[in-house]
Amino acid sequence: MEIVSTIAAARERRSADREAGRSVALVPTMGYLHEGHLSLVRRAREIGDSVWVSVFVNPAQFGPGEDLERYPRDLERDAALLEAEGVDVVFAPPAEDMYPRPSVVTIRFSGLEDRLCGATRPGHFSGVGLVVAKLFNIVDPAVAVFGQKDAQQALLIRRLAAELDFPVQIEVSPTVREADGLAMSSRNVYLSAAERQAAPVLHRALVAAHDAVAEGENDPLVVEGQMREMIEAEPLASLEYAVCVGLEDLERPSRIDRTVLLATAVRFGSTRLIDNLLVER
Ligand code: PAJ
Repeated sequence: MEIVSTIAAARERRSADREAGRSVALVPTMGYLHEGHLSLVRRAREIGDSVWVSVFVNPAQFGPGEDLERYPRDLERDAALLEAEGVDVVFAPPAEDMYPRPSVVTIRFSGLEDRLCGATRPGHFSGVGLVVAKLFNIVDPAVAVFGQKDAQQALLIRRLAAELDFPVQIEVSPTVREADGLAMSSRNVYLSAAERQAAPVLHRALVAAHDAVAEGENDPLVVEGQMREMIEAEPLASLEYAVCVGLEDLERPSRIDRTVLLATAVRFGSTRLIDNLLVER
């Protein structure tokens, strides 16, 4: 496994893959890897000849007062995990290399960036779009793998790749959970013991709502109310949103007559957790 830490070195390594006729599958991450990330790596291994993982805590997607400084980092541990997965290249650039000066180019996702997570994280998805576009241009992958855990992000990246004609196939992999249902996240390490015990309420609320819809509930407001009630019953949880929306527009339909996304964001103290489930119709 090779660790490359500059854009120039990444391009050089990419040329070697191209000359050898190896297709590249990229897994973009912010590091502090867990089984969720590793499941994406395994998916990438199935699809690509050469598996690249980027590890970069992207300043552009953190707002003022968010957790950029305290975001957990451990490149040595990440590299050991990735080596064990048979990864070919880890791209871990410093912020100065990715952003040598403040960007004037902005990526906007009209009508989609202000919904769900975007409502409380202004500019977040612009920052994600910018770094993912840069990674696609630097690594030029045939396939890039993202997690369903960040459903809105996956949707926006599909649109980014399609609309800007990046020659990349976007793969979305299922959410990996702890035994009690909590979706794995690098941010779970912030939770106190009591918060960690309370955190599976997101998944429980989503499952209950999923079952209600699967059993025929057609009113998204009823489904949202049910999720809200369950989450608000947990004293340590502070609900940000719990929604039942269409997959493409992230808007609440008047009735549930096609596949919907159930999604929630909840704060435990200063830690913000998200989770979602699809209900197929
Ligand atoms: P990060 O939070 O490190 O997540 C990297 C990838 O892992 C994302 O595609 C995310 O959806 C996926 N992932 C996280 N937890 C998961 C879980 N429990 N199960 C399955 N997949 C999971 O998302 C980002 O980084 C950044 O926004 C990034 C796309 C790298 C751009 O900076």
